[in-house]
Amino acid sequence: MPATQTPPLNNAPVGIFDSGVGGLSVLQHIRTQLPHESLCYFADSGFAPYGEKSEADIMQRTLFAARHLLQQGVKAIVVACNTATAAAISTLRTHYPELIIIGVEPGLKPAASLTKTACVGVLATTSTLASQKYQLLSDQLQQATHIQFIRQACPGLVTQIELGDLDGPITRALLNTYLQPLTDAKADVIVLGCTHYPFIADTIRQVAAEQGNPAIQIVDTGLAISRQLQRLLEQHQLQAAPQTPLPLHCMTTGSTAKLQFVLSKLLHFQPDEYQIQEIDCNFAAP
Ligand code: DGL
Repeated sequence: MPATQTPPLNNAPVGIFDSGVGGLSVLQHIRTQLPHESLCYFADSGFAPYGEKSEADIMQRTLFAARHLLQQGVKAIVVACNTATAAAISTLRTHYPELIIIGVEPGLKPAASLTKTACVGVLATTSTLASQKYQLLSDQLQQATHIQFIRQACPGLVTQIELGDLDGPITRALLNTYLQPLTDAKADVIVLGCTHYPFIADTIRQVAAEQGNPAIQIVDTGLAISRQLQRLLEQHQLQAAPQTPLPLHCMTTGSTAKLQFVLSKLLHFQPDEYQIQEIDCNFAAP
């Protein structure tokens, strides 16, 4: 191949996966950080939320999504879901040892360097907070820093965000309940340990302020994930050539309307910048 020609795999898309629309909060950072990369997004909205499901179910769905993404010829997969990362990333790496696979986990380390009250609140799903992966991370950091990490599971929140309710009465009432223990403990940093939550970051700030905690700092790992992807693509010499990327290819096991709402209203995609394909939720394997 001539030295000037880019190998075909370089222009293959990057696959991004979440239980629903949450991973789009990570996708927006990847799009800004790596503007030449074509992206392929899998939303398992027909099966969301994952947060209350068993580890075995989450593992099976993660493999299901990975197979669909690999069928699109992706060169890397970002598991843009804390819950799926905690439950299934090692299984995924065992299945696809050659593939670049990046996971996400709650940003406890950046939060530890920000807190002044030595108290950090961690909002995540029940499953993420109960996982061995999370417990190990939080125990190690707590011992090393003496910072208190208060875990707060948020059942119901992902469902509201999937419905597009970012600041309505139900979402606010849930947040009011979930933030109160953090406010009472004087947490000054809140970790968004679920990729859906960046879409309600403003509402979280407002509710915390109403509870008398106006100076809360919010930690979201979307930017760090996009930088990690950039590093790994460079390491493997798999960066896309300077080009206009293909339109975003989305696959969903749920409703097209949910994805459309987030893409156009929150991420400001134009109609010609994406296409959506519906996938049968129960379709066993491509
Ligand atoms: N976005 C997923 C996460 O980061 C939400 C999990 C769910 O579907 O409950 O954990």
